[in-house]
Amino acid sequence: MRLLVTGGAGFIGSAFVRLATTQGWSTRLVNLDKLTYAGNLENLTAIESDPAYSFVHGDINDAPLVKRLLEDERPDAIVHFAAETHVDRSILGPGAFFETNLRGTFTLLEAARATGIARFLHVSTDEVYGSIDEPDDADETYPLKPSSPYSASKAGSDLLALSYWTTYRVPVTVTRASNNYGPYQFPEKLIPLMITNAIEDKPLPIYGDGMQVRDWLHVDDHCRAIWAALTKGAPGEIYNVGGSRALPNRTVVEMILDAVGKPRSLMTTVKDRPGHDRRYAITTQKLELATGWRAEADFESGLAQTIEWYRANPEWAVRVKSGAYQEYYERNYASR
Ligand code: NAD
Ligand code: TYD
Repeated sequence: MRLLVTGGAGFIGSAFVRLATTQGWSTRLVNLDKLTYAGNLENLTAIESDPAYSFVHGDINDAPLVKRLLEDERPDAIVHFAAETHVDRSILGPGAFFETNLRGTFTLLEAARATGIARFLHVSTDEVYGSIDEPDDADETYPLKPSSPYSASKAGSDLLALSYWTTYRVPVTVTRASNNYGPYQFPEKLIPLMITNAIEDKPLPIYGDGMQVRDWLHVDDHCRAIWAALTKGAPGEIYNVGGSRALPNRTVVEMILDAVGKPRSLMTTVKDRPGHDRRYAITTQKLELATGWRAEADFESGLAQTIEWYRANPEWAVRVKSGAYQEYYERNYASR
């Protein structure tokens, strides 16, 4: 398949690009990425010299650029990862989330409608369902009740994308995955933040009581699910992607401290996140039945592999944690 990937220099997008180019999923892959604070070409050094791969530095909101890429490259599919992705940043400043997640997705959909595309895979999140009370697990028909500007912008872009199938027959498929973890994740999200802080003997900030529950999905399992949905799923359909491993944050952080060999006293309770969702929980049967996909990684070994990666690549974390990251850290944690 000839692919146009957006946001392929980020955490999940770069894992997808590495897999697509090395597993023979793509014969040609163009990666369009704006290289925001979260985009990092270092994530792609392993495949950057592959002749079937090209990087284009640009914004998904740049309509002429997107149109030109679709006309020149004639991809069979767009795999759309590009987004502003961090809930805490969306609370500090929601504007960029509107611009990229809503307006940017609209720009891509309009270009796809004008040019024609065989498949459009819109990568979304289980956070669109909002906090889910026990004993429920959300399937794809569950009501949308996003809590943060991030999840609201993703819910809006999901609905817009699906409307392009209903109205214009742009063949959109939506995936909604649970919390991802793995190598190359920007250390603002729970797992890489806690690993890198533990390695550096810094405090590990737990929001509120730390009993919020997240379902953890290894990034490579997520990428395989996206590939399965793209090649075996149907247009107009939504597929949840879960890791079937729901854990309270406090348990995850304790596992990290134990694995890194640091004392639990590094855990520090800080003021809770406003609008903090208590529990995410989804069913994944629809994707499994439609495509045969199954999550392969078990959380213990996936977490161990991830910790090993951060230990083996300290210079990666030092570089991404320098400069603007320090300003963000101050803004997000100083008042807690
Ligand atoms: P990330 O923040 O690591 O990377 C986002 C990438 O998008 C970066 O490379 C960035 O430079 C690029 N980007 C941002 N704005 C852009 C723009 N206007 N034009 C072009 N490129 C732009 O994100 P991630 O964690 O890899 O998430 C990727 C996708 O998966 C997102 O759509 C996110 O909503 C979704 N998702 C993430 C998770 C998770 O746990 N991280 C879970 C479910 C779904
Ligand atoms: P995060 O990785 O930001 O993902 P999301 O909010 O999209 O699920 O956070 C995961 C959980 O960890 C969430 O309940 C908030 C919590 N958390 C902390 O307790 N401390 C932190 O410093 C961060 C970043 C998150």
